Amino acid sequence: MEASISETFRNRIVLVTGSTGFLGKILIEKILRSCPIKKIAILVRSKKGFNANQRVADIYKQAVFDRLKVENPDFTDLIKIIDCNIEDSSMGLTTVDRDWIVENVNFVFHCAATIKFNETLESASKINIQGTEKLLSFVTQMKNLKGFVHVSTAYSHCPRDEIKEQYYPVPITVKKLKNMSGVDDSTPRVLEDWPNTYCFTKAIAENLVLINGIHLPMSVFRPSIIGCTKSEPDPGWLENMNGPSGIVAGVMTGFLRTVPIVRNKITDIVPADYTVNALISVMWDTVNRYQNSNLINQEPKVYNYVSSVESPLVWGRYIEEMQDHYHEAPPLQSTWYIFYVFYTNLWIGKMLRFVLHRIPATLMDFWLIVCGKSPKFLKMYVKTEFMMDLLYEFTTRQWKFDNSNIRGLWSLLSQDDRNAFWFSLEEFDWTSYIKIYFYSIRKHVLHEELSNVAKATVKNRNLQLSTRYPLFVVEYFTVDTPNAVSVTIMAKVRRSFD
Ligand SMILES: NC(=O)c1ccc[n+]([C@@H]2O[C@H](COP(=O)([O-])OP(=O)(O)OC[C@H]3O[C@@H](n4cnc5c(N)ncnc54)[C@H](OP(=O)(O)O)[C@@H]3O)[C@@H](O)[C@H]2O)c1
Repeated sequence: MEASISETFRNRIVLVTGSTGFLGKILIEKILRSCPIKKIAILVRSKKGFNANQRVADIYKQAVFDRLKVENPDFTDLIKIIDCNIEDSSMGLTTVDRDWIVENVNFVFHCAATIKFNETLESASKINIQGTEKLLSFVTQMKNLKGFVHVSTAYSHCPRDEIKEQYYPVPITVKKLKNMSGVDDSTPRVLEDWPNTYCFTKAIAENLVLINGIHLPMSVFRPSIIGCTKSEPDPGWLENMNGPSGIVAGVMTGFLRTVPIVRNKITDIVPADYTVNALISVMWDTVNRYQNSNLINQEPKVYNYVSSVESPLVWGRYIEEMQDHYHEAPPLQSTWYIFYVFYTNLWIGKMLRFVLHRIPATLMDFWLIVCGKSPKFLKMYVKTEFMMDLLYEFTTRQWKFDNSNIRGLWSLLSQDDRNAFWFSLEEFDWTSYIKIYFYSIRKHVLHEELSNVAKATVKNRNLQLSTRYPLFVVEYFTVDTPNAVSVTIMAKVRRSFD
């Protein structure tokens, strides 16, 4: 009989890359809280004048570790910080650290990556492809390796409409990509149908795992869009404005008034704590698969961790339920009463942006200049609209995912393991999660405490009154827009005036 998930980690040494990132922090917190490990080695690079130790000391102060500080006050004794930059030759590891890892490490979670959609191809390749290649070659030297899980993304093969738990061909080999000179001039040609360098390089990195992992205990884990935590270590932990969080923050503050979204398309969000539980369970499965079978010629298994198969959530419901909570606790920093128009047609989008973003921004900048201050609004809109354009593919399209391997894995878990590492998204309660998510964005992205709600509500009421007439005009002219141009105006704005 197989050991439980936590027993699999008893007295073992775990190595994590990307531990200073969003997913990495939740992962190390959960491992330290729920698994009786001997040590967790984290590979951290020096950055902005701070060395790895200084950076990690700062990270422990974050709220995500508060629960751990209570439940296991000596948790830092279990952490070994290792200076490492996966872009450097030999990953920047000292010989001593390298030897220690080769002799001791049992499990490797590879989370490090650049997730910027607008990264240059050269830079994204260095981190996501060549970094993975170096790690893989290092992993093959580890004498006591029991499992390696490579964290990819459910969108690595987003040019396809249907994404199964399998490897797909990529348009270029790693070697060819490395040898290309002036690679960034030819980026669009190299990328073919991929919308950004992030997904493209993640797709290529997966195939490296395939090539290197045939005889090894390896797996590829593909989560979709990782949202705030549902319950662990606390509900609603979040630290970035990526994807849907940034859109909601922009809409709630009245800054974003027009967004490229198709209301009835699926937004595939998965909670961060469930994601980490699934990731740890994938490691458990990888170890068991390797122990129980002859892995010769067996491909590293791929796991699509998505919500759309069991509990699909559409953009319209996500934004509208967020808006319900906006009325309970609007942000104090709002510049306008909430109002937004969805579009998909790019020309319509340009017009809407001109009217709803650029003209007000120009007027506000003019006012700042009159007051002797530096203009900023137009610049902010140019930047934000650029970021929205990068998300266009993901807010206006949906994919058909297969997650049989993840569902199969869930069926293998004992009840105790399920309770400790819950990740099933069957009949997921989106309504309560969206509420948690709203307050999480308010707190962690907009940095507003609930103590300001009374003040914010008064301000919001005033904003509502001052924008009453312009909104009626916009609604009057757009209400009969034909469906073909996919403009959706939020009727709730009008109801809230009644
Ligand atoms: N967030 C999502 O919605 C999402 C969805 C699907 C898949 N994923 C995957 O999940 C993984 C983690 O993503 P995340 O959201 O946690 O990203 P993140 O917050 O940007 O964290 C990225 C991590 O990678 C590290 N890293 C980047 N370049 C490095 C280098 N050259 N050497 C060493 N470390 C380096 C970063 O270290 P520094 O702190 O030094 O920069 C950071 O710890 C990625 O593989 C990503 O593709 C994320």
